[in-house]
Amino acid sequence: MHTKIEIKPSKRLLSLPKYIFAELDEWKEEAREKGQSLIDLGIGNPDGCTPEPVVKAALESIKNPKNHGYPDFKGKIELRENIAKWLEKRHGISIDPKTEIQTLIGAKEGLAHLTMSYTDPGDINIVPDPYYPVLSRGTWISSGEVYHVKLEDSNGFLPNLKSIPEEIAQKAKIFFVNYPNNPTAGIITKEYFKELIDFCKKYNILLCSDLAYSEITFDGYKPPSVFEVEGAKDIAVEFYSFSKSYNMAGWRIGFAIGNQEFIKNLYAMKTNVDYGTCSIIQDAAIAALNMDESCCCDIAGIYQRRRDFMLEGFNKLGWSLKKTKATMYLWLKVPKVYDSKSWCKMVLDKTGVVFTPGIAFGNYSDNYFRVSMVADDEKLYEALERLENSGIKFTE
Ligand SMILES: Cc1ncc(COP(=O)(O)O)c(C=O)c1O
Repeated sequence: MHTKIEIKPSKRLLSLPKYIFAELDEWKEEAREKGQSLIDLGIGNPDGCTPEPVVKAALESIKNPKNHGYPDFKGKIELRENIAKWLEKRHGISIDPKTEIQTLIGAKEGLAHLTMSYTDPGDINIVPDPYYPVLSRGTWISSGEVYHVKLEDSNGFLPNLKSIPEEIAQKAKIFFVNYPNNPTAGIITKEYFKELIDFCKKYNILLCSDLAYSEITFDGYKPPSVFEVEGAKDIAVEFYSFSKSYNMAGWRIGFAIGNQEFIKNLYAMKTNVDYGTCSIIQDAAIAALNMDESCCCDIAGIYQRRRDFMLEGFNKLGWSLKKTKATMYLWLKVPKVYDSKSWCKMVLDKTGVVFTPGIAFGNYSDNYFRVSMVADDEKLYEALERLENSGIKFTE
């Protein structure tokens, strides 16, 4: 006799909004069952392989029994020293490897744990919309509230600080920004970082900069670190990822930098939840940081070429997209008669091409969709061709 016992998940879990990417998976499954051949430009998973020197370093590292035990919570000091050297070279900033760096199991993990370290029930965190989902979800998991600032093309997809009500600024705990931005491909300047730092200092808010796309940049553009601006160390934390920069999304490694107080609290939260990043992967990350810069340029160069022909293709279809300077994403307006889900579903049904509806990135973003340029040239050209031959009207 089998008794069915119902154990309810927490209210915290049940209260989270549905993850649209899960719904996207259901659509794809349905389309495959109908025999459609899909071109998936929905997810942001790099399609290239991890560079050879990184793979080699991991193979060497796995032979060392020292790397088979629990790793050091903070990350190996060799890795942290290499990160500090890389930051000095790349951004001209001085970060103490002993106290100001925390190794992460990917930036996503770190962003969630930092949020939990600083958010009490009822606290307000400011998250620009559109946003990478964990930026809001970390707050909701912590029973905090999110105030969304709308990002608009007319403002370069930067938050308009004047639009944030005084009472929200007074109560806010963390202000998240992500530049180069997923999904809009917007970028930030040092001058704007200065405005953000002043705003956060005025209201005593932790400024959290997500620089996950730091190396996926085009035409010689280099994005600034918040720490290139004076005074940032008093108020900011910044997150980096190896996932996109070195095609290492599946390896799960990133790092956070900031003053020792913020890093100490992130570390404290992590010690309660995880054991840090696998030592073998840390050795691989050291190899990545020491690779010839041309290797990163090769990865970015592939996205730059794709950006060029995809922009041209979409513009021929009726959009008027400007050249992006970073990320593997294009952020396009949905033709007016649709919302983002009905648009993407209709395109999938008619063409087999998968895009992400803007609503996946926030309620203010339902009139956009995201194209991830994560397929080889042939597939991307075919996607454009299928759109062109579909008979769909693309005008805004
Ligand atoms: C803006 C942003 N931040 C963070 C991440 C997560 O990075 P990681 O793979 O290091 O967890 C992503 C991944 O897509 C992202 O788009």
